[in-house]
Amino acid sequence: MARVLMVASEAAPFAKSGGLGDVLGSLPPALARLGDEVAVVLPRYRGMTLPRERIWDSLPIQAGAFFYFTGIDQVVRQGVRYMFVDCPVLYDRPGFYADSTGDYIDNHIRFGVLCQAALNISRHIFRADVLHAHDWQAGLVPVYLRENYSGDPTFFKMRSVFTIHNLGYQGQFPARALSDLTLDRRLFHLEGLEFYGGLNFLKAGVVWADAVTTVSPTYAREIQTPEYGFNMDGLLRSRSTKLSGILNGADYNEWNPETDSYITAHYSLENLAPKRACKLDLLREMRLPSDPDRPVFGIVSRLAPQKGMDLVAAAVPSLVDRGAFVVALGSGDSGLERAFRSLSDSFASRVSVRIGYDEGLAHRIEAGADLFLMPSRYEPCGLNQIYSLRYGTVPVVRATGGLEDTVDDETGFKFRSVSATELAAAAHAALEAFHDRAAWMARMRLGMSKDFSWDASARAYHRLYETAGV
Ligand code: ADP
Ligand code: GLC
Repeated sequence: MARVLMVASEAAPFAKSGGLGDVLGSLPPALARLGDEVAVVLPRYRGMTLPRERIWDSLPIQAGAFFYFTGIDQVVRQGVRYMFVDCPVLYDRPGFYADSTGDYIDNHIRFGVLCQAALNISRHIFRADVLHAHDWQAGLVPVYLRENYSGDPTFFKMRSVFTIHNLGYQGQFPARALSDLTLDRRLFHLEGLEFYGGLNFLKAGVVWADAVTTVSPTYAREIQTPEYGFNMDGLLRSRSTKLSGILNGADYNEWNPETDSYITAHYSLENLAPKRACKLDLLREMRLPSDPDRPVFGIVSRLAPQKGMDLVAAAVPSLVDRGAFVVALGSGDSGLERAFRSLSDSFASRVSVRIGYDEGLAHRIEAGADLFLMPSRYEPCGLNQIYSLRYGTVPVVRATGGLEDTVDDETGFKFRSVSATELAAAAHAALEAFHDRAAWMARMRLGMSKDFSWDASARAYHRLYETAGV
């Protein structure tokens, strides 16, 4: 049994903008089921309606010349203590990381304070064996642990694990930001906090943590190469003995076509027929013709270069040309939003696009589509392809990161190069296969029978907590 304090900027259902939120909503309960005691620290953002249990009233946190007075609120969910750092001046804002004008300029303070709050929580409220920090927002946790708090006996044996969910977001700030963080200037050097002249939170996590993980075995290898390393491959290679990949799991309580509360017709491996009703519902919701024999490609994605959505935009006309519908939900990059809108204008009876964030529609696309497109340039793990497998929605993916580790040629379609032509070729092969109904149903069933539940992954983390830094 371990006592684990996780630190992150998102956790579903309280705050989620992507897969990080999913993971923090489901890994901690999976660990709790194994017998670990787990708490999660995250900011109390605007609009969170929590049953307020205030467990600490005025915790002062020093950030440079200022003190931030924070309160800690707690919600216990599925055996896990979720603790929210309440500091309106930092977190009561329109977005988690940015507003319409861009990233908040004090993000280093916002997340530096979160990290220090976590250390204070582990001193006063929840004494942990392991601090498990996720992504750059929590990257300073291992630094504070070793450099600022190590004199306190509470922390003598405490160890840290740092998980990279996405190397593309590193939390880089100008060197002068250091003076807002209550960290010794001497830590700012090549082997420390410094990265190309600035300050890098993710690097801090990699350097100071006792163990570093990422969210799939293939991505753990890829990030040690220049192609996927975002200039950090050298550092990651030099730390390879403490770096490993643990595949994410899926929360099948949330993502299960037999019970999903966002869909009206439920289906299973044994009873696939109602999926057709989900398809008709989806076509209706997306204002497309009720033509259930045409294959539907689904997309649910952040519209970011990472996700290869420019490749999708380029390939869509050829999919329409071969008789398919395309249904897309996503938001992000304004150029990509425009490209998708213009596709739905050009092919109004075949392509339907919803720009925005809509949890329910995400589920209905997984259930109602026949195929799922995920041609990512890089994909640390990816959850949507895992959900697709469970929903009998055959994934067409680029063979990278977690996509490589979860989809095979029997359950889906894979291509290798970052190329719209290769994506189109894989999607065309999938369309060919779709018309052989018996073989297609066998493929769907095989995907649905794969088990990516959290159990095995939670066990892997549990083992790591026992060995990291010992
Ligand atoms: P990433 O975290 O890189 O965005 P993942 O595949 O790991 O990718 O996780 C994405 C999660 O976010 C999934 O749960 C997916 O359903 C959800 N999601 C992404 N975009 C949207 C959207 N526009 N509306 C609703 N859910 C979305
Ligand atoms: C990141 C990655 C995604 C991963 C998720 C959860 O957002 O882009 O691949 O599934 O984190 O770990």
